[in-house]
Amino acid sequence: MSSIDLNARIPNNVNLVDDRTLQRALEHWQPAFLDWWKDMGPSDFLKSDVYLRTATGVDAAGWATYGSVKMPDYRWGIFLADPEPHRTIGFGDHMGEPVWQQVPGEYRSTFRRLIVTQGDTEPASVEQQRLLGHTCPSLYDLRNLFQVNVEEGRHLWAMVYLLHAYFGRDGREEAEELLMRHSGDTDKPRILGTFNEPIDDWLSFYMFTYFTDRDGKYQLKSLAESAFDPLARTTRFMLTEEAHHMFVGETGIGRVIKRSLEVMKELGTDDPAAVRRAGAIDLQTVQKYMNFWFSSALDLFGSESSSNAGSYFANGIKGRPDEAKFADHREIDTVYHFEGPDGAGGIKNNEVAMRNAMNAITRNEYVKDCEVGLKRWNKLIERAGFEVELKLPSDRFHRSIGAWANVPTDAAGTPIAKDAYDALCRSALPSAEDRSFVKSLQVRVVEPGKMAAWIAPPDRGINNLPVEYEYVRLN
Ligand SMILES: [Fe+2]
Ligand SMILES: [Fe+2]
Repeated sequence: MSSIDLNARIPNNVNLVDDRTLQRALEHWQPAFLDWWKDMGPSDFLKSDVYLRTATGVDAAGWATYGSVKMPDYRWGIFLADPEPHRTIGFGDHMGEPVWQQVPGEYRSTFRRLIVTQGDTEPASVEQQRLLGHTCPSLYDLRNLFQVNVEEGRHLWAMVYLLHAYFGRDGREEAEELLMRHSGDTDKPRILGTFNEPIDDWLSFYMFTYFTDRDGKYQLKSLAESAFDPLARTTRFMLTEEAHHMFVGETGIGRVIKRSLEVMKELGTDDPAAVRRAGAIDLQTVQKYMNFWFSSALDLFGSESSSNAGSYFANGIKGRPDEAKFADHREIDTVYHFEGPDGAGGIKNNEVAMRNAMNAITRNEYVKDCEVGLKRWNKLIERAGFEVELKLPSDRFHRSIGAWANVPTDAAGTPIAKDAYDALCRSALPSAEDRSFVKSLQVRVVEPGKMAAWIAPPDRGINNLPVEYEYVRLN
C-alpha cells in the first residue's frame, strides 16, 4: 500500500516529499485555491464549525475521518487508489499491454482536455451552490451541502495534481485557469453550459446531486478504466467520495416526497394546490423538476454517435463504466443500433460502429442507475396508498444534444407536433410560477434536529450520530 503523509502541507499518498519540484509547484497553487474558496466557496460560513469527513486514507474501510472543522481549514489532499500490480489495459487496440505510468505523447492533448473538463466541473458546482447555505432546511442538510462542497474542492485537487505531475508547464497553466473561470461569469464562464446556472433552491440541489452528479459518477467510472494508470487510480478514489453525493440527492428527493405524502394523508387529498397551501411540495412539481434535470443531465453524455468517443475507446483513453462486465473489449467490427428521428415526424433505426456509440452505452448505464431511486420513491408513494407514479421521461424528451436534439416528442418519446410539444413543455417542466413557489419555501432552519416544513427528517444522522446533533455550529 502507498504510504500516507497526513502531516505534510498537502496531505498525500503520492510521496510528494520525493519530488521537490512538484511539491513546490503544488504548494504554490495551494494559496490560490484557498483564496478561491474564500471568494467563491460557500458564502458566509468560513467561521462555522462543520462536522465533516476528511479523506485520510484509501482503503475500503476507514478511509475517512470525521470531526468538527472550519471549512478553510479542511485538509484537502491528494489520494490515489492503490496501484493494481501488473495491471494491463482492459480494452481497445492496446488491450493486454501494460498500463501507462506517463502520458504517451500522441494522446497528451486529449488527456489534458479530458482532465481539464472534468476538473472544471468540480469547482463549478461549488460556485453554483455558494448561496444555498443561507436557506438550509436543517443543520443536517447544511452539513451535507458543505460535505459535498469540500469534496468537490478535493476533486479539483485530484485533477490539478495530474495536471501538475504529468503535463509540465501547460498543466500548471491549466491548473491556474481552473481557478480563473467562474460559474456564470460572462467573460470566463465554466466550460460546460449547465455548470453556469446558479443552484439557488434546495429541491434543485437534490436534483443536481441525484442527476448531474451521477453523470459525473459515470464519467469517472469511464476514466477509472483508462490505460493512463494515475488517472484511473485518481478517479477510482474519487468515486468512493462521490457515493455520498448520490446519497444526498436520493435521500433529499425521498424526504421531499415523504413530506408531501404526509401532508396528502393529513388532508386526505392528492390535490397539488392543497399540498402547496399546506407548505409542502406537490408530487407533480417534483416530477417536473425531475423531467428538467434528467433531460439536461442526458445532454452531458454527448451524441449517440461520436468519432471522438470511438477514438477514446480505441486508444485506451476512456473505457465503458465497469468495462470488465462487457463481453467484447475490442469491439472491432461490432455495431450498435439506436432509434433516431427520420426528419419527417417518424422514427428510423440507425446503425453505428460500436466504438462510436460509447456515449450512448455509458448513458444507458446511467439511466439504469437513475431508475433505482425512482423505484424507492414509488414504493413510498404506493405504501402511503396513493396512485401517483413518478417516471423518468424518455431519453428523447427535451433534448439539446444528440439525435433527438430539438425534436418535439412527448414524455414517452413519441414524436409530436411542435405546438403540442410547446404546450407539453409548459406543463411538464417547471414554470416560472413553480420555481417561485419552491423558492418561497426556502427559509433557513438552524435549530438542531428541526426541519423546514417542506421536507421530512432523515431516517438517521451522519456517522451514527442522532439527527438532532448540531452538525454545524454557526460562529
Ligand atoms: Fe466531484
Ligand atoms: Fe460530486
